[in-house]
Amino acid sequence: MKVLVLNGPNLDRLGARQPEIYGTTTLAELEEMLRARGAELGAQVECMQSADVRVLIDQMAETDADAVILNAAALTHHSKALRDAVAGCRKPVYEVHISNIHAREVYRRRSLISPVARGVLIGLGVRGYLLALEAAVKEASK
Ligand code: DQA
Repeated sequence: MKVLVLNGPNLDRLGARQPEIYGTTTLAELEEMLRARGAELGAQVECMQSADVRVLIDQMAETDADAVILNAAALTHHSKALRDAVAGCRKPVYEVHISNIHAREVYRRRSLISPVARGVLIGLGVRGYLLALEAAVKEASK
């Protein structure tokens, strides 16, 4: 099976960006961890990051992956277009947030994505992506 991992704006700066909130793992390290875990689980993991909502929407519409893991970053809280793309995606979309968005600023507490996501992993650090990957593989093999 194949899993697409999509990261939104500013997540290319993981490791350097507010490490007290997002940790010290870089995006390259995270992507490598996901590919390695995917290989153990028998899944091919394809990763991409973009600050451009259009790129994220197109990826979700055009992917041949069996599942999508999405950290939409700040787009989570305001992009109705991205929410529509998740709702319209024929594959299950697992929403991930590194930080606990419910324990931060009020504007972060609302996710437009959560109601249309297959599952949500919030506040578990980068481990949330690995847990989402395990869930995606397990659910796809049912
Ligand atoms: C984030 C939380 C968002 O509120 C923020 O805009 C991000 C990262 C997270 O992974 O914790 O960029 O999605």
